[in-house]
Amino acid sequence: MEKDQLEKLFNSKVDRRGSNCEKYDFYHESYSVEQGDYLPLWVADMDFPSPPCVVDALKERLDHPVLGYSGTSESYFQSIINWYEKRYNVQINKNWIINIPSMIQALNVLIHTFSNPCDKVVIMPPVYPAFASVVEDTGRELLLNELMHTPTGYIINFNNLEEHFKNGAKILIFCNPQNPTGRVFTEDELMKLSKLCTRYDVLVISDEAHADIVYEGHQHIPLFSISPESLHQTITLTSPGKTFNLSGLGCGNVIIGDEKLKETFLQTANRIHLNQGNIFGLLALEVAYTKADQWHQYLLEYLSENIKLLTKLLKDNLPKAHMHKPEGTYLAWICFKEYGLSHHQLEEFIFKKTRVLLSSGKFFGSCGDQFMRINLATPRSNIHEAITRISSTLC
Ligand SMILES: Cc1ncc(COP(=O)(O)O)c(C=O)c1O
Repeated sequence: MEKDQLEKLFNSKVDRRGSNCEKYDFYHESYSVEQGDYLPLWVADMDFPSPPCVVDALKERLDHPVLGYSGTSESYFQSIINWYEKRYNVQINKNWIINIPSMIQALNVLIHTFSNPCDKVVIMPPVYPAFASVVEDTGRELLLNELMHTPTGYIINFNNLEEHFKNGAKILIFCNPQNPTGRVFTEDELMKLSKLCTRYDVLVISDEAHADIVYEGHQHIPLFSISPESLHQTITLTSPGKTFNLSGLGCGNVIIGDEKLKETFLQTANRIHLNQGNIFGLLALEVAYTKADQWHQYLLEYLSENIKLLTKLLKDNLPKAHMHKPEGTYLAWICFKEYGLSHHQLEEFIFKKTRVLLSSGKFFGSCGDQFMRINLATPRSNIHEAITRISSTLC
């Protein structure tokens, strides 16, 4: 596809209403509002059409009318191996890959498999809300290792993390690139983290859902690849869902380089048919990883421009709102503290008065008070409209 065709594709406003879309059709369930002219920039999926080569392959598959069980082909595994080599310069082995429908389903199974009720599990808020719920719902003890908010961005509080490890934490659920702060952790940070986990024998579940959305000047490094020790103490959750907007197809992978950990996980996964595979998801992943490079490259360019636009709009229209430029993810984490409103008032203003639906910071942990997360994977005009609407009420 030519660049101007891609630009047209990304700028086009596809009407998602009426397609059973969580973001546009079901927001009233999460926001307690009536249906209306809301601008929804919450759920972490994209408003952009998925790569045309993927959509075409799915249509072609439907020319075959039998939709029974399927298996994971050699070319499926190879597409993931090649993707890791191309994107991260990391070699992975076919035997390390286990197909899963959703990362959060797999996270549940991993917590059940590798810990016992009341065991301590650490998360690093502000962070994707499902991490806390999985730990609490499975009856494990949740330990919070809040990221430190510094003038230059969020960093890991290693002293506090070590305290939790000394106190017997068994598992760390790590998020890199980080949702919602947009941090992409550096080699030094990952090395330090890995050493600490080795010293205290802590298993890391590394959620790398946003790994392929990383901006110039930053590089995603899969945690398992940081050292030989890390390979044996890390379980990675990965998926093409965020990268190519395929989350509705339910297709991800768990990558486990340690044979013993893998066998233990497989026993449970096989028992509950977790790795059964969805014909459309498997196909979409393979086509996306092998044929959608150009689309992906353009996505990163488009999102970088959206970040620049948001930065300028905030400066011009909401000067008391602050954000650190995301290093990765299509999410931006905005601090509204200087407006002097309580979190509840902020929600009332933004959701009810301006009818812009952002993700409320409180869901990411109590440190998310007076913060909002905005989803920038949307045509530029929507970002313009959102900030214009918000600035008309908050000044
Ligand atoms: C960090 C992170 N992990 C996992 C998920 C959900 O993944 P899945 O749909 O595969 O369960 C999301 C979705 O927003 C996410 O941001």
